[in-house]
Amino acid sequence: MQVLGIETSCDETAAAVVAADATSAGPGAILSNVVLSQIEKHQAFGGVVPEIAARAHVEALDGIVAAALGDAATELADIDGIAVTAGPGLIGGVIVGVMTAKALAFATGKPLIAVNHLEGHALTARLTDGVHFPFLLFLVSGGHSQILLVRGLGDYERWGTTIDDAIGEAFDKTAKLLDLGFPGGPAVERAAADGDAGRFELPRPLLNRAGLDMSFAGLKTAVRLAAERHSPLDRRAVSDLCAGFQEAIADILAHRLERAIAHYRSHYAGSAPTIVLAGGVAANQVLGARLDAVASEAGAHLIVPPQNLCTDNAAMIAWAGAERLARGQDDGLGFAPRSRWPLDETAAPVLGHGKHGVKV
Ligand code: KG4
Ligand code: ZN
Repeated sequence: MQVLGIETSCDETAAAVVAADATSAGPGAILSNVVLSQIEKHQAFGGVVPEIAARAHVEALDGIVAAALGDAATELADIDGIAVTAGPGLIGGVIVGVMTAKALAFATGKPLIAVNHLEGHALTARLTDGVHFPFLLFLVSGGHSQILLVRGLGDYERWGTTIDDAIGEAFDKTAKLLDLGFPGGPAVERAAADGDAGRFELPRPLLNRAGLDMSFAGLKTAVRLAAERHSPLDRRAVSDLCAGFQEAIADILAHRLERAIAHYRSHYAGSAPTIVLAGGVAANQVLGARLDAVASEAGAHLIVPPQNLCTDNAAMIAWAGAERLARGQDDGLGFAPRSRWPLDETAAPVLGHGKHGVKV
């Protein structure tokens, strides 16, 4: 089974073709994975400008789809289904992807699957590693930071969420404050590499509170205040601040992971979970190594998909579509794009939950 995926919910115009067997339990094969980043178009603004993003998707998407089919040495006629991100995300971009996918489905008569972008991130580890349900998901990105129990396809229970900023957003804002450019995550990680994490004392918000919710706004403010106190910052101070910030995030996530593993064990008769770290922030090597150590210590197993599949891409959308197509889903032409679309629709809405896409 071959599925074409289309992703336009933030600032990457992406198309991919993946192949799955009839059960779609994974792993699958990525036949092509084309990602055009718009970063240069947004750089001057220090964040993604929704109008510019939508226009850039319109200009590029046809060519990106053609490239994905070409790279996979296949053609539309041989595709079994089309999967498109139908939300959550910046609505202008989502509309561009959905209308393009509907046109392709209408012209070819192929099934069309409306994919939740967050489910794309969630199921990536099934595409790459064939991870079985249930598993624990740490979804950490520019627009969302959530801890979820993934019981099955479309079956999510939110155990924790940020109550304010997403982690990637905190990285991006810290980078902006320190003039490190956009996107901030990789820049902060680079600057932190030779920094002294112990030089600045930074808070670990909510750490003493029960449950699995997280907060990063106070940390961001503390970084700003420290930067103001030590202004003008030399290169050393910038590195030290970045290292301190990154370590605070690592401490918060490590603590939440320990607690989530214990919670999982109490749910599933003591058995250890597989934990999947997904979303753009999962590309951070320091955070990944720290969480890996915590998981091993607790007798659990952490899986982090390769970096290019952690950040936004269409292979993950094609894969989520393949899993749904294998179960007979076809959403036809009638569905609407959604700017908000939480994975666990029963969980109480919280700022930062079910949101996707960083706006200036
Ligand atoms: O999943 P993604 O590509 O887009 C969203 O769905 O938001 O994630 C992008 C986010 C950005 O906030 C970016 O700064 C962050 O992921 N990110 C990182 C790293 N690479 C990307 N954060 C920390 N460390 C990194 N190495
Ligand atoms: Zn994403």
